[in-house]
Amino acid sequence: MSVTRSASRLADSRRTFLRYLALSPALASPLLIPGSLGKALASTWAARAFDESDSGAESIQSADQAVNVMEFEELARKALPPAHFAYLATGVDDDATVRLNHEAYQHIEIRSRRLIDVAKLDSSVELFGTRWETPIFLCPVSSMRVFDPEGEVAVARAAANKHHLQMLSTVAGASIEDVTKARGAPVWQQLYPTNDWAVTRAMIKRAEAAGSPVLVFTVDHMDNANNETQTRGRRFDDRDCSACHEKGFAGYVRGKPAFDGLDISKIRALYDPSFTWDYVKRLKDATRMKLVLKGIVTREDAEIALEQGADGIVVSNHGGRGEDTLRPTIECLPEVVAAVKGKIPVLVDGGIRRGTDIFKALALGATAVGFGRPQAWGLAAFGQSGVEAVLTILRRELEKIMRQAGTQSIRDITRAFVIPSA
Ligand SMILES: Cc1cc2nc3c(=O)[nH]c(=O)nc-3n(C[C@H](O)[C@H](O)[C@H](O)COP(=O)(O)O)c2cc1C
Repeated sequence: MSVTRSASRLADSRRTFLRYLALSPALASPLLIPGSLGKALASTWAARAFDESDSGAESIQSADQAVNVMEFEELARKALPPAHFAYLATGVDDDATVRLNHEAYQHIEIRSRRLIDVAKLDSSVELFGTRWETPIFLCPVSSMRVFDPEGEVAVARAAANKHHLQMLSTVAGASIEDVTKARGAPVWQQLYPTNDWAVTRAMIKRAEAAGSPVLVFTVDHMDNANNETQTRGRRFDDRDCSACHEKGFAGYVRGKPAFDGLDISKIRALYDPSFTWDYVKRLKDATRMKLVLKGIVTREDAEIALEQGADGIVVSNHGGRGEDTLRPTIECLPEVVAAVKGKIPVLVDGGIRRGTDIFKALALGATAVGFGRPQAWGLAAFGQSGVEAVLTILRRELEKIMRQAGTQSIRDITRAFVIPSA
């Protein structure tokens, strides 16, 4: 089949997919769903994410022309095959937690102060002895080569140029050595431990050898989540996937550089459902890296994490991809912050799309604030320069609101600067 014909077939199936999503009652009929969830659907998902006519972004020729991060979502949706966009967009069940993660920020207002000298801003933060220019970090996102052939390496170059912390997924499409080289500095290694300790231990040693100072153990991942949007997206994509990646779990693992050279014959899952808190101690004993737990959303678990010696926490619900709780991370953050009493850093991610979102999370006690999907949107739209533009926009927006609200430094952004909407 010629390139033109296969591109036009792809465009056709993408159009059909978008039309399907627009007509889907769960996605397009907020009236069926009461309260804030209904509003969330109306204002974001149905009205924006799946409305093909809403395409001011179509005229964007280069990454620096985008006015906000959301425009990259529209560009990514057009650039990616349906199955890949659906892989990125999906949550679980009704995707409600995905939407609410961002929507919840609309229910927090900022209390700005006036006549404060904000001519010079200091937006830096310190994490485990390293000072970062901004509190904005790149979350681990798996398989980024489906968005751009350079995948995580392009993200690393963007992180290097813009001076941001990058976390690298266990199931990244690039090796930690290549990513570290592209970043020009160590990255934090995210860990899906698998059910095989020998493999886990080998991955930990490899991360240590690559200079990674922090191991981020993701505790909210269960295999076989009910990713309905992803499944539906595949129906609209009749390309032969095996041309690029092997089918099945074993093939998936074989395709990931983190497992190169390891005996993967005993791996059945990325996360073993029999894990308990003892596993945290096991990891602590196995490494000299700092250990951060990603996926904590309650006071109770934050307290246990502290007792078990965790060095940090990421308040996260995996971007709504684990379970549909309807509990946005910004609502989980205050209880986790209260539980740890400043003893360890508390990072947060989920639904961050604006500098004001970052400001609000910092006001509610986050030490640093991360984002997942927007890096993939930027990457899909413009490669490395798209990721750089996303970072630039978020930092610019954060610094703007810091000035407007009268906060000279991140330390100044306290709870007094936010109030729930009436
Ligand atoms: C496509 C995709 C892949 C992801 N892969 C991983 C992963 O490999 N490891 C992990 O800990 N989290 C993973 N996450 C979750 C992100 O690290 C992060 O918690 C989440 O994306 C934040 O929400 P946001 O996308 O709304 O910004 C992934 C998220 C997406 C969207």
